[in-house]
Amino acid sequence: MKKKKITVFSAIQPSGNLTIGNYISVLKHWKNMQNKYKCIFCIADLHSLTSIKKKNFSYKKSILDTLALYLACGVNPNKSIVFIQSLVHEHSELNWILNCQTYYQELIRMTQFKTKTKKIKKKINTGLLNYPTLMAADILLYQTDKVHVGQDQKQHIELTRNLAIRFNTHYGKVFKLPEIFMFQIGSKIMSLLDPNKKMSKSDLNQKNVIYLLENLNEIFNKIKSSITDSDNPPKILYDSIKKPGLSNLLIILSALSEKSIFEIEDYFLGKSYFELKKEVFNIIKKHLTKIQKKFFIYRNNKSYLINIAHEGAKKASIIARKTLNQVYKNLGFLKKKYL
Ligand code: TYM
Repeated sequence: MKKKKITVFSAIQPSGNLTIGNYISVLKHWKNMQNKYKCIFCIADLHSLTSIKKKNFSYKKSILDTLALYLACGVNPNKSIVFIQSLVHEHSELNWILNCQTYYQELIRMTQFKTKTKKIKKKINTGLLNYPTLMAADILLYQTDKVHVGQDQKQHIELTRNLAIRFNTHYGKVFKLPEIFMFQIGSKIMSLLDPNKKMSKSDLNQKNVIYLLENLNEIFNKIKSSITDSDNPPKILYDSIKKPGLSNLLIILSALSEKSIFEIEDYFLGKSYFELKKEVFNIIKKHLTKIQKKFFIYRNNKSYLINIAHEGAKKASIIARKTLNQVYKNLGFLKKKYL
């Protein structure tokens, strides 16, 4: 097989409740991507510590659910490195070093930090503030060429590049400068009832969100009640400013059917919003039926999942350690004689 030269890194925070937004912008692409690139897919469990969880929340369950979903979506551990962040301690080590390169002023400017902290009435943990620096460590450890993300992560990738440049300039070149890798269609899927905000797994109103493991009847009801507009006669046209709800449905349909928005608009000329919603549901059903079936097969084989996680961590550690050794060398720290 041809050696793949370009490294692509991507990660998702583990919550078994991954959404159609996660699927459309990143997960869905990984199956094909791994044939072309050297792919490293991480389950960012350390990141998920930053949000407060319900009392009965189980990290282990959530991590294994996410791993099973990766596999169900076509990630192949023989083609890609699939691993869990906390099993590769180099992430936490580099995180500290990069923290000392990151300015507080940079972190408080991050849009995601501002949005998330607005919702928190009481005390804010500093993990939420330092979150983008841990992301930078994830990416830079693997000499990543391309970071595959949705639009909401763009600012964090810009910070990652700045930190890499800052470190390389002060201490000598260690890190490759990663580029953002984002697909044009579907990099920001909006909430169903409030299409001016992003669909998010942590949304308190579950009617805003379609989950990958959700019951299909539930999904149908959610799509049926999603916000469109009151144009009469109805106009099925993409206009993210004037028709954000409808445009979101068109994006979902386009991304999942791989038909262009133009083709879809043409097909739905003179048709009703309900007909469009039915079609959106049908395409979601087509994707999720397969995923859910495979998910349960993988999820029932816990020892297989755990073995994949450990094998992936071994492979990831080799690359991560090499970068970190170079970091310590450039910093002028003592050389480690043992692992
Ligand atoms: P997370 O878990 O919030 O989301 C995972 C990926 O899904 C994308 N995404 C969306 N795309 C389109 N529409 C949406 N509504 C939507 N919601 C989420 C996100 O942009 C992301 O690409 N911090 C990251 C995880 C992470 C990471 C990394 C990513 C940790 N380390 C290093 C890349 C590189 C996060 O919380 O993503």
